[in-house]
Amino acid sequence: MTILYNNDLSRDALASRRVCVLGFGAQGRAQALNLRDSGIDVVVGLREGSSRRDAALAEGLAVEEPADAIRSSHVVVVLVPDVAQPEVYRDVIAPSLREGGCLVFAHGFAIQYGRIEPRADLDVVMVAPMGIGEQVRAIYARGAGVPALLAVHQDATGEAMSIAQSYATANGHGHAGVIMSSFAEETETDLFAEQAVLCGGLHHLVTMAFETLVEAGYQPEVAYFCCLHEVRYMAEMMQRRGISRVRESISDIAEYGDYTRGPRVIGEESRAAMRAALAEIRDGRFTRELDARVNDVLPEGRRQAREHLLEEVGAKLRAGMPWLDED
Ligand SMILES: NC(=O)c1ccc[n+]([C@@H]2O[C@H](COP(=O)([O-])OP(=O)(O)OC[C@H]3O[C@@H](n4cnc5c(N)ncnc54)[C@H](OP(=O)(O)O)[C@@H]3O)[C@@H](O)[C@H]2O)c1
Repeated sequence: MTILYNNDLSRDALASRRVCVLGFGAQGRAQALNLRDSGIDVVVGLREGSSRRDAALAEGLAVEEPADAIRSSHVVVVLVPDVAQPEVYRDVIAPSLREGGCLVFAHGFAIQYGRIEPRADLDVVMVAPMGIGEQVRAIYARGAGVPALLAVHQDATGEAMSIAQSYATANGHGHAGVIMSSFAEETETDLFAEQAVLCGGLHHLVTMAFETLVEAGYQPEVAYFCCLHEVRYMAEMMQRRGISRVRESISDIAEYGDYTRGPRVIGEESRAAMRAALAEIRDGRFTRELDARVNDVLPEGRRQAREHLLEEVGAKLRAGMPWLDED
């Protein structure tokens, strides 16, 4: 594994090149501001009628129509949602980006699954932050940065790697570490982690534990606190210290339950399900299914989640804890 820090990364490639950040959402805002504060000439490309135009202008950023912003730039950072990227590439980027220009992605999905086939003359790189947009900006503003994965998909000019490294440095990633990766590794591990741990695994684990306590006659409010509310403190401790040191700071009773009951709850059946989910991601079955079913599955999943007792109880209890949003 190669991990590079500020002193290892080449920085200069963006010094003389304008960067167009397409989109001003979670990552677009964070990265446009970080680049600007790193001294890069940056312009934000926003479509006509964008509700975020005023916010970008209020931050002192230059804003132009996407095609104009792309034409005046050497590098285009594609920070619109992954599902919108193929259309944006086809209709706006491909006709406007200069020959030998560079495309930067923050996630490999559109390239990895062949939804965008970039022009052969372009450099195509990925600088994928290991953090949500808010963190990418807030941690940069503290003089540090979140880690990132870096990859080159297409090196048409021989400069793809130096542009990617310069971009990673300007976005603050060199403080925490830039891991050399590939579009396949980033995309497949990111989808897998969402499914197995961060979204699918965690949400279903919490919901099922809550249901188990309520079904056994315990008060839903108590079940909410111990199965959902306290996850945050454990997750933060795990991030700061790692699992073995968290175990040293919990009680002996909690630690005994961890070793003996944890593997029953998440056992070999879960491992088999994880392996199956990973295989579906890698061979494309997941994305084909996504295309066919996403418009049915999302509305129904959201309806069920909204109507669950966990939400009713949670909304009531969170109303008494406004400090949760401030932390
Ligand atoms: N969310 C994260 O923290 C995070 C973390 C790591 C990586 N990423 C990656 O970063 C990339 C951007 O994700 P994001 O979550 O930052 O996106 P997002 O917040 O949903 O992006 C919103 C922006 O995209 C623009 N947009 C949406 N659809 C568009 C279209 N069809 N044509 C033109 N502009 C369009 C919106 O334009 P308007 O202003 O006109 O509405 C808005 O400015 C993705 O590749 C994602 O996987 C995101």
